[in-house]
Amino acid sequence: MRFDILTLFPEMFASPMGSSILKRGQQTGAFEIALSNIRDFTDNPHRKVDDKPYGGGPGMVMMCEPVFRCFEHVAQAGPKPGRVLLMTPQGRQYDQKMAEQLSREERVVIIAGRYEGFDERIREGLGAEQVSIGDYVLTGGELPAMVIVDSVARLLEGVLGDEDSAKDESFSNGLLEYPHYTRPENYRNMTVPEVLLSGHHKNIEKWRLEKSLERTKAVRPDLFEKYKDNSKYQENNRE
Ligand code: ADE
Repeated sequence: MRFDILTLFPEMFASPMGSSILKRGQQTGAFEIALSNIRDFTDNPHRKVDDKPYGGGPGMVMMCEPVFRCFEHVAQAGPKPGRVLLMTPQGRQYDQKMAEQLSREERVVIIAGRYEGFDERIREGLGAEQVSIGDYVLTGGELPAMVIVDSVARLLEGVLGDEDSAKDESFSNGLLEYPHYTRPENYRNMTVPEVLLSGHHKNIEKWRLEKSLERTKAVRPDLFEKYKDNSKYQENNRE
């Protein structure tokens, strides 16, 4: 899979995307990241990429021309991008389901902006989907772009060491994950629940589901309500 990222600050990506699991995933060819600097696509003598908003108001707006030209340059090489994402707090909220959808694409283009926002014609003209990673405002779309790459890349085959580790986790079944423990059995008088030491797989599975439900109900009642409506929960509670 290939991610193309259009940004004014490609250097921000070097360390987070070049370390640990994501580094290995690129080395093994599971995915690649191509960074393009939007500022390389302006003819403006001062390399200006933003301007004052029509109608007045605070802040600066990212101009069409450098973004369109950068996008066209990127898109003409290689396969047609499956999805084009514009990072903005005005977007649809990103979630695990969207990460799973994106992981099935051959190519995804992510546009990260700075300033007050993008000229609306960028979204229209490039057929881009506006995506937000949460209800808070960051100084730019670079961190959100990295959140997307990270969450999608770890779903790709050959990126995580243990093939199973992306399956049995929070959100993949609509619930928060159960609690985990590792050695020692007793740490400062805090002990590991007996059932986990029992070796009884059915009981362990049952305990984990109970804990997942308990936790989700307490911390994320919105997810719990959704889960309740799905058939798995109905089946479990009929038994
Ligand atoms: N740019 C600034 N804040 C953002 C957010 N929450 N999500 C996506 N892009 C952003």
